[in-house]
Amino acid sequence: MKLKALVALLSDGQVHSGESLALQLGVSRTAIWKQMRRLMDQGFEVASIRGRGYQLVSRVDLLDSALIIKQLDAGLATRVDLRVRDEVDSTNAEVLRQVAEGCDGKLPISIADSQTAGRGRRGRSWQSPRGENLYLSMGLVFHGGFSVLDGLSLVFGVAVAEALETLGVPDVGLKWPNDIFLPAGKLGGILVELQGELQEGVVRVVVGIGINVHMHKAEGVDQPWSSLASACPDTEWSRNQVAAAVIGAVADAADTFSSKGFGVFREPWQNRDIYCNRLIQAKDGELKGVGNGIDGSGNYLLGTPEGGIVPIRAGEISLRVVL
Ligand code: BTN
Repeated sequence: MKLKALVALLSDGQVHSGESLALQLGVSRTAIWKQMRRLMDQGFEVASIRGRGYQLVSRVDLLDSALIIKQLDAGLATRVDLRVRDEVDSTNAEVLRQVAEGCDGKLPISIADSQTAGRGRRGRSWQSPRGENLYLSMGLVFHGGFSVLDGLSLVFGVAVAEALETLGVPDVGLKWPNDIFLPAGKLGGILVELQGELQEGVVRVVVGIGINVHMHKAEGVDQPWSSLASACPDTEWSRNQVAAAVIGAVADAADTFSSKGFGVFREPWQNRDIYCNRLIQAKDGELKGVGNGIDGSGNYLLGTPEGGIVPIRAGEISLRVVL
């Protein structure tokens, strides 16, 4: 019996007798009891009510591909090849497998409930607990060679920020090059990976987006972080809804970037720049200056104490606030 099927039955928050659950799932009551113990081991809060049955106390927010597709614009809904999985190594890797298996010329999108080898920028791992957050990747094709990719990760940052704002999240900030921030700390991150040149001038990139939705603990994360649920506790967050908003915004942003280039994203990015006018450092303190926004290619501009402006190229450099 799949644990997911049991969770789906319990997700209405009502009390279900062991007998009715067993009947619906075609298993014995003992099997139901064993699965309840497994659910509890996985962190689900299940109340066992004497003489009545079981009730899922913690709220579950199940991923559902049909619900995600239903919330996309009609045109986009017909263009996506959406895969929703219980567990994958990394949704970025899953998108590449999806492409290899062929997706009928559609936009490959992969979402997972958990990742066993979630990847972050600069070789870091990305904590991906089951059922808590959004782990989403999209495969996109751009024309114009590798240089066209300059600034692309900033474009996706703007898209994700706009998607969250349409869902009512206030004070969404961007940390160069592509972290999503709320005042309490990092809410999400974006990992853009290049698959390579498909034919001359045509490149495929995989954009992977992780957004903390319900996460309430994160052991081993070495910086302040936030989640949608902690920032907006009065909203009943649905990962399906967040996924649909992000997919729509990223697809739109990719089209705009292809037709108009990076320039149109500069101002929307700068309006959310969390380092603007702050004293920051790059290259482990070798360079210090005041945040001055970005140039027309997406490089970060540091205003130096000598009155100069130093552009910092995206890639392996990260910026930090000087403490
Ligand atoms: C960062 O370091 O801030 C980028 C994190 C990107 C995480 C996402 S989760 C979905 C996708 N799959 C991965 O393995 N990584 C990205």
